Amino acid sequence: MLILVTGGTGALGTVTVPRLVEDGHTVRVLTRRPRTERDVRGDLETGEGLEAAVNGVDAIVHLASAPHKWNTPRVDVQGTRRLLGEAAQAGVGHLVYVSIVGVGTVPSRYFRFKRQAEELVVEGQVPWSILRATPFPEFTEGMLRTFSRLGPVVVPARTPWQVVDAGEVADGLVSMVGHGPSYAVDELGGPEVRPFDEYARAWLRARGSRRPIMPVWLMGRTGRTQRQGHLTTLDGANGRKSWQDYLDECYGTSGAKGVSEKNPS
Ligand SMILES: NC(=O)c1ccc[n+]([C@@H]2O[C@H](COP(=O)([O-])OP(=O)(O)OC[C@H]3O[C@@H](n4cnc5c(N)ncnc54)[C@H](OP(=O)(O)O)[C@@H]3O)[C@@H](O)[C@H]2O)c1
Repeated sequence: MLILVTGGTGALGTVTVPRLVEDGHTVRVLTRRPRTERDVRGDLETGEGLEAAVNGVDAIVHLASAPHKWNTPRVDVQGTRRLLGEAAQAGVGHLVYVSIVGVGTVPSRYFRFKRQAEELVVEGQVPWSILRATPFPEFTEGMLRTFSRLGPVVVPARTPWQVVDAGEVADGLVSMVGHGPSYAVDELGGPEVRPFDEYARAWLRARGSRRPIMPVWLMGRTGRTQRQGHLTTLDGANGRKSWQDYLDECYGTSGAKGVSEKNPS
């Protein structure tokens, strides 16, 4: 099949594209900055290049997103609407959309736009499948770096957390492409649901750091829904790679590799 991947240059996209190729598909990647022969220029925010990008395509794997940016609604919501419109015109047979576990219940600006994009996919004319994933380990490590800028690692108190390997999410997306439209929202999470502070502790241990951990109580519905476990999935906990596996790959099993507390990077 000829598959268009939006967001094919991003963290999830770069592990999804080779898997689609391995599975025997021909892949076209939509990007604002084409670099390889596979890439076609296009911008979800303006609609530039979308008509040509969907031409002749059997399925679309829609991963592109502008998280935490001022233009999130223009890319994630209006961009998805534009993509669906062009895809319907071109007779594309399947759109696979990646979303996030908890978008329906945890209040956050980004989640609200992801949820609106999901609704457009569900209500649109293009046959669809949706996969909601829990956070990737790289994203979680980014959070931990941000949370430790001031010294102690500030973590949300009593908050269950679950990371899933991006490669395993990519496997799920490739499988969805192969099976055809499911008209269902599936979930995928990693093998472990553990309190966020345990993630922080394991991260500090792997880096050989003795920084203290400071749990904070998040107020309001955001904190409450997170503490209730809405960012995690038990039914979809089918990932195999754990947080510790990720840390072992990054830092080695025997502790910090090339990282010192004076120079944490
Ligand atoms: N990160 C996580 O932990 C996580 C967890 C669950 C689900 N997800 C979902 O997975 C998806 C991919 O996340 P990621 O972490 O791989 O994202 P990422 O690394 O930030 O990549 C974002 C991608 O979106 C594309 N993009 C942004 N604005 C665009 C525009 N105006 N037009 C066309 N393309 C645009 C970028 O392409 P160019 O820059 O090449 O144009 C890039 O390939 C997102 O939908 C996210 O919600 C992420």
